[in-house]
Amino acid sequence: MYSQGLIGADGGSEETQEFLDAFQARIDAEEKIEPTDPMPEGYRRTLVRQIGQHAHSEVVGMLPEGNWISRAPSLKRKLALLAKVQDEGGHGLYLYSAAETLGVTREQMTEELLDGTAKYSSIFNYPTLSWADMGAVGWLVDGAAIMNQIPLCRCSYGPYARAMIRVCAEESFHQRQGYEIMLTLCKGTPAQKEMAQDALNRLWWPCLMMFGPHDGDSAHSEKSMKWKIKRFSNDELRGKFIAATVRQAEFLGLTIPDPDLKWDDSLNGGKGGYHHGEIDWSEFWRVVKGDGVMNVERVEMRKAAWDDGAWVREAALAHAAKRSAKMAAE
Ligand code: 3HC
Repeated sequence: MYSQGLIGADGGSEETQEFLDAFQARIDAEEKIEPTDPMPEGYRRTLVRQIGQHAHSEVVGMLPEGNWISRAPSLKRKLALLAKVQDEGGHGLYLYSAAETLGVTREQMTEELLDGTAKYSSIFNYPTLSWADMGAVGWLVDGAAIMNQIPLCRCSYGPYARAMIRVCAEESFHQRQGYEIMLTLCKGTPAQKEMAQDALNRLWWPCLMMFGPHDGDSAHSEKSMKWKIKRFSNDELRGKFIAATVRQAEFLGLTIPDPDLKWDDSLNGGKGGYHHGEIDWSEFWRVVKGDGVMNVERVEMRKAAWDDGAWVREAALAHAAKRSAKMAAE
């Protein structure tokens, strides 16, 4: 069903300039591209890469928080964390399904995750060392994810944009429950407030890295923005996240671990924004390339889950095959 839509309009491998211009005109007219529409191979590949890695991030992102479900300080906290982790799994399934509309299988995407070909967000290669990290992950990581995902609701590719609408609604619950944990800690004992500050200190810079390299170093942004997959650049979204989060930290009475953070009214065309310290891009690439504290453990846990679930997939596929054979015989 998808083969006709996946490559150039003539169904052949070359893509004429006329085809490319007609496709770009659809993008510029804010039309939604659907799975069976003819699309440039580059557009398809960019989406398979981004949506697949986004899905991997959601599923691997369950692990740092899953670590604290049995350690939650109350039943209420346990219920909220359980709901959040379950949501992330669902986000992964939406996104794998969106990627499958582009002709790639879940098995292929999982294989690429497990063999290291495909990435997931670097933030999930940092350990979650205290309960305050559950607050900081919800507040900062999901806060950064929301900043990046709201524009994706207007992505030119229909299935991705539609998947994002429900994801974003659930992310706002994730961010709020995290911020409420931080607020409770900051209103608690000095030791609890110190725990919240420690979590902010450890996760602030890795959260800024979630938005990707600076615009000038981004390999994909130019194409992604031309095709309206990305609506804002990496640095624009990072700047929006910082501006929103600094005020929240002030309300908590926490200090952002960046002495170079400075408001400047002239930034963003006079709307103002923050200058910030330099991100340690050597750390970013080291973690992205697999040398973070938790990289090995995260992929090992995904591999174990994939292997342990093989019998469920086989049983479901066998059942489906039996049913369709029975229906064909009727
Ligand atoms: N972690 C790992 N890899 C990263 C990265 C990060 N934080 N930021 C960038 N990269 C990689 C890119 O994947 C690309 O590598 P590739 O060519 O092998 O794919 C390379 O660095 C160059 O970066 P670019 O900026 O050129 O790449 P993109 O245009 O793809 O931009 C992105 C990166 C902004 C992350 C973009 O892919 C995106 O918006 N993705 C969708 C949202 C997403 O995946 N968010 C991740 C977190 S999801 C989450 O947090 C779930 C929540 O529920 C907790």
